[in-house]
Amino acid sequence: MTQLTPVLSRIWDQPQSWTRATYERFDGYRAMREALTKDPQTLVQAAKDSSLRGRGGAGFPMGMKWGFLPPPDGGPRYLVVNADESEPGTCKDIPTLMANPHALIEGMIITSYAIGCHHAFVYLRGEVVHVYRRLMNAVQEAYDAGYLGRNILGTGFDLDITAHAGAGAYICGEETALLDSLEGRRGQPRLKPPFPAVAGLYARPTVINNVESIASVPSIMRFGPDWFKEMGTERSTGFGFFSLSGHVTRPGQYEAPLGITLRELIDMAGGIREGHRLKFWTPGGSSTPLFTDAHLDVPLDFDSVAKEGSMLGTRALQIFDETVSVVRAVSRWIEFYAHESCGKCTPCREGNWWMRQIMQRLVDGKGQAGDIETLLDICDNLLGRSFCALGDAATSPVASGIKYFREEFEQGMHTPADELFPPHRSTLFDSPQGSAQASKAGPSVKEGVGS
Ligand SMILES: Cc1cc2nc3c(=O)[nH]c(=O)nc-3n(C[C@H](O)[C@H](O)[C@H](O)COP(=O)(O)O)c2cc1C
Ligand code: SF4
Repeated sequence: MTQLTPVLSRIWDQPQSWTRATYERFDGYRAMREALTKDPQTLVQAAKDSSLRGRGGAGFPMGMKWGFLPPPDGGPRYLVVNADESEPGTCKDIPTLMANPHALIEGMIITSYAIGCHHAFVYLRGEVVHVYRRLMNAVQEAYDAGYLGRNILGTGFDLDITAHAGAGAYICGEETALLDSLEGRRGQPRLKPPFPAVAGLYARPTVINNVESIASVPSIMRFGPDWFKEMGTERSTGFGFFSLSGHVTRPGQYEAPLGITLRELIDMAGGIREGHRLKFWTPGGSSTPLFTDAHLDVPLDFDSVAKEGSMLGTRALQIFDETVSVVRAVSRWIEFYAHESCGKCTPCREGNWWMRQIMQRLVDGKGQAGDIETLLDICDNLLGRSFCALGDAATSPVASGIKYFREEFEQGMHTPADELFPPHRSTLFDSPQGSAQASKAGPSVKEGVGS
């Protein structure tokens, strides 16, 4: 049985875990003190040796990315932390920033020192004002302690951190759209190359990493790459958050070695909600092709998940039991992608619009002959043919939904999804609105949950 490995979440249960005082009581900022005495190159090498693959979804090796920066030329170089976290199902960075923001700040100081950056940014999803306040307070605490600003701890190293709140657009999580948005422009992806390592923020060399990637840096520097590599698998090293949501008894953040299986995680989460069984799930958010109960034992590491036809993504495990309509779930996701498409390229702008129309027909039980083939055809024209990965992502729920649950899409030709799968049966929380809907649709919400 795989054990949990609480590293980033180690202090989450402590009173006021988000304060510098609590963080330091558990050896926080010790890794920074040690790192600032070392040669920056040894830190880059340690990141490379850890083999940590980026936790933002794509899984690119972090140390290799740092190593891509060209040699210093006297001009500025930047670190940008991606805290946009807008993928449906993904919910790990915001809890980290709420419960333990100093892990990120310490990671940013070490990373900035390693890559020669003196001004680092956090690009935070705009809607989460409470998180923005918490992050700003933590940054202020770090300035007050002399961990940010001029001549940090007498080492001669200078660093400022700017926390920037976006306006709440999923596309601004794509790293080059993020940079445009940070520069004050409309957030749309840039043509690559040049890659951000060469010409990123303000056309200067830039490292962009996810919150969880950078927050993992202090522990790697403190305990060493070998310690990190003892966890996980050979090609997916270390620990990470597995965020379980939906129809499990105890949803939440499970910090565990990569390679753990959903079966083990569901056991830890107290099982699928009582009286129900697993139907389908996402391994890493809505952009990753669906899995079913046949995939319970797939090791959740980058390669094993890819081998089975999906992606590890952000380890956002959305769990759906047999009460949920795949057609309705996919339709919701497509509404999201159609809404969030930035409109820059035709396949994604038009394709998502058309998929949304068709999915709505199927939800209403008014599908037309050929709709399934048209959906697959649109996916074919999107996947690999869009300007950025948002277009690819939109095809994941549709194509995998049809692959595993084609008969439900066929039922959409004649029967509304709400008749086949009454929504109140999937409801997790009793609410006045839910009760009203339930009394119209049949049994009460409470009866529905237990049935
Ligand atoms: C549409 C879209 C949204 C994305 N959203 C995020 C996000 O919210 N957070 C994130 O870290 N990466 C996101 N990414 C991935 C980033 O482009 C980038 O790969 C990542 O920030 C790199 O960090 P990492 O190497 O530490 O994973 C998104 C990508 C796309 C295409
Ligand atoms: S794929 Fe979609 S989000 Fe990406 S550039 Fe094209 S229109 Fe914009």
